[in-house]
Amino acid sequence: MAKNKNMFVCSNCDYQSHNWLGRCTKCHEWNTLEEHVPQTAQHKRASTRAPTTIKLSDVDLSSKGVVRLSSGCQELDNVLGGGIVTGSVVLLGGDPGVGKSTLTLNALADYANSGSVTLYASGEETSRQIALRAKRMGLSDRDIHLLCTNDMDEIESAALQLKPTIMVIDSVQTISVSDITSTAGSATQVRAVAQRAVALAKGHNIATFIVGHVTKSGDLAGPKTLEHFVDTVLHFEGDGRSQLRVLRAIKNRFGRAGEIGLFEMCDIGLKEVPDASARLLSERAVGAAGTAVTASLEGTRPILTEIQALVGVPGPQFPARNCVGIDRNRVTMLAAVLEKSGVKLSDRDLYVNAAGGVRLHEPAVDLAIIAAMVSSLIESPIIENTLVIGEVGLVGEVRNVSHPKLRLREAIRHGFTRIVAPPGWQDDTLEGVTVHTVSTVQEALKVLF
Ligand code: TYD
Ligand code: MG
Repeated sequence: MAKNKNMFVCSNCDYQSHNWLGRCTKCHEWNTLEEHVPQTAQHKRASTRAPTTIKLSDVDLSSKGVVRLSSGCQELDNVLGGGIVTGSVVLLGGDPGVGKSTLTLNALADYANSGSVTLYASGEETSRQIALRAKRMGLSDRDIHLLCTNDMDEIESAALQLKPTIMVIDSVQTISVSDITSTAGSATQVRAVAQRAVALAKGHNIATFIVGHVTKSGDLAGPKTLEHFVDTVLHFEGDGRSQLRVLRAIKNRFGRAGEIGLFEMCDIGLKEVPDASARLLSERAVGAAGTAVTASLEGTRPILTEIQALVGVPGPQFPARNCVGIDRNRVTMLAAVLEKSGVKLSDRDLYVNAAGGVRLHEPAVDLAIIAAMVSSLIESPIIENTLVIGEVGLVGEVRNVSHPKLRLREAIRHGFTRIVAPPGWQDDTLEGVTVHTVSTVQEALKVLF
């Protein structure tokens, strides 16, 4: 019979080794490998509860099992799929300082306002710091119970005593479980704390927000498995230069992933931004060369964004490729497509931004990136009130994108009268709007200027 060998797991990065090592070969941290005893077959057999199966057709699909609590904050409720589900666990990740504590405190204040019992457990700040923030946000009088601790046992006891409907644990990296020796924030601790929080939430029907930090690459710090055992994963994004914050659902067992909510960080906390397009186009330099407006779909929401490009003069050094809010590899690919189409960019510096601090993930913005780059290169603005949309393929073909009606409606609402779009977007029912359908990049360049 195969021997059940103990494993050594790095508490920092989850690396596994059959032998103990003084230094982890993956993350190079010292003294982080801990012994893990695998569960033996005997242990597993000890469970005597007979498993119960259920026929697919017998599963109760009525929505009575799912109770949602509305925070009153439309942007947050939408991202959660119509309010937080009681007893569910939401992992909220984001860079330090982006506003996670502000967002969760604001949410608790809203829930408290509608009569829910709320608990804010913080391992990062003192009750004075939290109260000062609440005062700044005008929420001092809200009925929120505070617990400042780094101990998961204390959070559990407080929750069992108080029986809150909604709880926040801020942050998972600063709380530890006493029976694990590694320090708070290690992969083992983060996993253990989150597992205990999930058990607490499910066992006592407490909707829980777990706040987590993200690494430089934008992933949630700690084990990836964390994202598997929570119900919802939200990322709070902001680029540091702009006040705009985007709350994005990465995973949602109770709603649509990809849905976004928009906020603005101001002096008195986070303000909802219901009309994202208006906000993003408000500082647009109309008529300037190097810009193009596109309609990107974030979840179910069309958002008009300005793409800005600056094509530098050829220099002696290797050309720079800098992007903010847009994938750099995508821009490099589009520059290569333009090169093939006869527009020389290989020796130029390229700077491409999505204005306003949003991050655009959709390939539907490709043609607008191309339009902005060419506009900057030839120093000529795109014809006024033109919206540019379409995915661009490697051979310079313009490909169709989803939901034309939603995007067109948003463009028309904001006064765009010329639409440069992929084949199939022709719509004769639109009054006062001309749709120029193009099937290649070259065709697009002919109608843009
Ligand atoms: P915070 O919620 O503490 O961020 P996180 O928990 O993600 O680390 O927000 C910190 C930043 O937000 C800080 O730089 C100050 C700013 N802020 C405001 O601009 N206005 C406000 O009303 C509040 C509460 C914070
Ligand atoms: Mg915080």
